[in-house]
Amino acid sequence: MRNNDSPEISLVVASHNSGKIKEFRQLLSSYPVNVICQPEGFNVEETGKTFAENARLKALSVARLTGEWSLADDSGLSVKALAGAPGVYSARYAKTDEERIQRLLREMEPFEDRTAFFSCALCIASPNQEILLEVEGKCEGLIARAPRGKEGFGYDPIFEVIKTGLTYAELGREEKQFMSHRGRAFSLLEPGIKRLLEV
Ligand code: IMP
Repeated sequence: MRNNDSPEISLVVASHNSGKIKEFRQLLSSYPVNVICQPEGFNVEETGKTFAENARLKALSVARLTGEWSLADDSGLSVKALAGAPGVYSARYAKTDEERIQRLLREMEPFEDRTAFFSCALCIASPNQEILLEVEGKCEGLIARAPRGKEGFGYDPIFEVIKTGLTYAELGREEKQFMSHRGRAFSLLEPGIKRLLEV
């Protein structure tokens, strides 16, 4: 058990995305950990074939660079009829969210089976290049025939969560957090975080 004199551990989030940093800070707010963002100008090329590989790559590089523990995530949407696309290319599928959605809807036109899932891989690595924790959360769904809802970002308006029949963009923020791939990955990470931080 850590006592009050234990120094706080720094955890560098391997991302420049302020939304992600905020989410991680919130998630870890009750733990003795100082969540900081990666150094400006540093970027890791996402060359992995899976979400887990990319999360690993980012966590290892940032931990090596900063000499601190690093937490990285990688996420995206995989569609069965498209052999898993856009998958690890979700962010790079087209230039804007709107164009990515339109491209996916166009490519889905010939298919009846609209099964898909969102994944979020999380990895914590140490500066001596040890993988301390790795988890992957998923959320099963269907690709809607047209965008619905106004909340969220990315593919939210066309991803219908199986359990609710609503798209991510039709869910409230807390509801989405509770059932989303990222929410699930966070809850899978928590027991490991407790173990690592001895709290
Ligand atoms: P990355 O994990 O930051 O590399 O982002 C992957 C891409 O997947 C994002 O740019 C979005 O297009 C998409 N994505 C990841 N999570 C979500 C989500 O919760 N809703 C909608 N799109 C998402």
